[in-house]
Amino acid sequence: MPLDIVVGTQWGDEGKGRVVDLLAAQADYVARYNGGDNAGHTVNVGQQIFKLHLIPSGIIHPHTVAVIGNGVAVNPRVLLSEMETLTESGIDISPKRLMLSFAAHMITPAHLALDQAQETARGKAKIGTTLRGIGPAYTSKVSRHGLRLFEMLDQAKFVPAIHAHVEEINQQLTSLYQAEPLNPDDVAEELGEYAVRMAPYIGDISTTIYEALGQGRRILAEGAQGTLLDLDHGTYPFVTSSTPTSPGALVGLGLGPGYEERVIGVTKSFQSRVGSGPFPTELFGYLADRLRGTGEQPWDEFGTTTGRPRRVGWLDLVLLRYAVRINGITELALTKLDILSGLDRVLLCTGYRQEGHEFFNLPFGPSDLSGYEPIYEEVPGWQEEIRDARRWEDLPVEARSYILRIEELVGVQVRLVSVGPEREQVVEIT
Ligand code: IMP
Repeated sequence: MPLDIVVGTQWGDEGKGRVVDLLAAQADYVARYNGGDNAGHTVNVGQQIFKLHLIPSGIIHPHTVAVIGNGVAVNPRVLLSEMETLTESGIDISPKRLMLSFAAHMITPAHLALDQAQETARGKAKIGTTLRGIGPAYTSKVSRHGLRLFEMLDQAKFVPAIHAHVEEINQQLTSLYQAEPLNPDDVAEELGEYAVRMAPYIGDISTTIYEALGQGRRILAEGAQGTLLDLDHGTYPFVTSSTPTSPGALVGLGLGPGYEERVIGVTKSFQSRVGSGPFPTELFGYLADRLRGTGEQPWDEFGTTTGRPRRVGWLDLVLLRYAVRINGITELALTKLDILSGLDRVLLCTGYRQEGHEFFNLPFGPSDLSGYEPIYEEVPGWQEEIRDARRWEDLPVEARSYILRIEELVGVQVRLVSVGPEREQVVEIT
């Protein structure tokens, strides 16, 4: 059945945009199923660099239809601005090429204000959110007070609904957080204008995808963030508020099970994390600076959405095995292998040690990773620059050993290795 799902196996920023861009060449529909503009997907095509937060990166291929599913939280301001940027880059953004689920929830300026107020109130215990209103928007959804894109189709009802929404959030802002309230008229005016522009794009994408599958079309489901940021399966409470794991693709697009063919787990060759929360293999000092880069290059480890430097560390195979299990991963795409070139040795975390006991799987999932000491296995590094490698045989023997050891310890084959930021800088392993 032709549904392929791309998931992040770590804390986001694994390079999913890059992998989606490659796989989209064979897809008819590319569909985002979770998260909002907290995501940042970078795709390099020749001289052009596309940084997308909301619209599926597969839209860059002219033959695809890009879909935003009901599981996504949509900030209309960001969506319309991305649509404008893509149009200026010569990409067709007509309603035939971009479809929005009527059941997707909206992120409003009130959600943004609440995200900021809540993070400030948390003080040292802050989650380190992207301040994009994600948590508050999904809270509105779950509390059944949310605004769906569907509401945008009827201005007569939409404007009073926004008023009620802003007034409700204003109460929280002022009474719980002593923050400034928003003017409901201003918010209603802004969103009312956006509604007119977005209306032609809003439809029933669940039926569209269902019918497309029936006609044998290929659907590529694009997850945002990563397994360890999943609301249910991540390092709670330091998680996002949606479902980045593969079952989220079914819920977030309105599909039943049974269509999935490949579940591609995108894994960076080392670990990274932005925001607070546990990170057993975290590195500091010279090695951390070496893996992170200086921030001058677009591929350096600085947040695409927030610009924050990412925390970095050695690849954690305990967490990767967990991600393989939770997502039903059928193959791995290993990204940024080129960044490890030049290191004398590379470490792989194969297990954890705590109070004299060794753990190779997590007794309580990743709910509490503090207090675990990583057990490392050392693999020889390689000095060669590998950005020109295109075949398995082109990779240095040490790099191949690194990949083979990962496969052996997690039990899934690596089918794709990215060795540079450009579209063609990949090694496909058949
Ligand atoms: P939120 O999704 O903005 O609420 O942030 C919750 C946590 O998820 C924070 O630690 C963020 O840094 C992290 N996060 C959210 N989106 C991304 C992403 O796309 N990449 C990496 N981390 C993310």
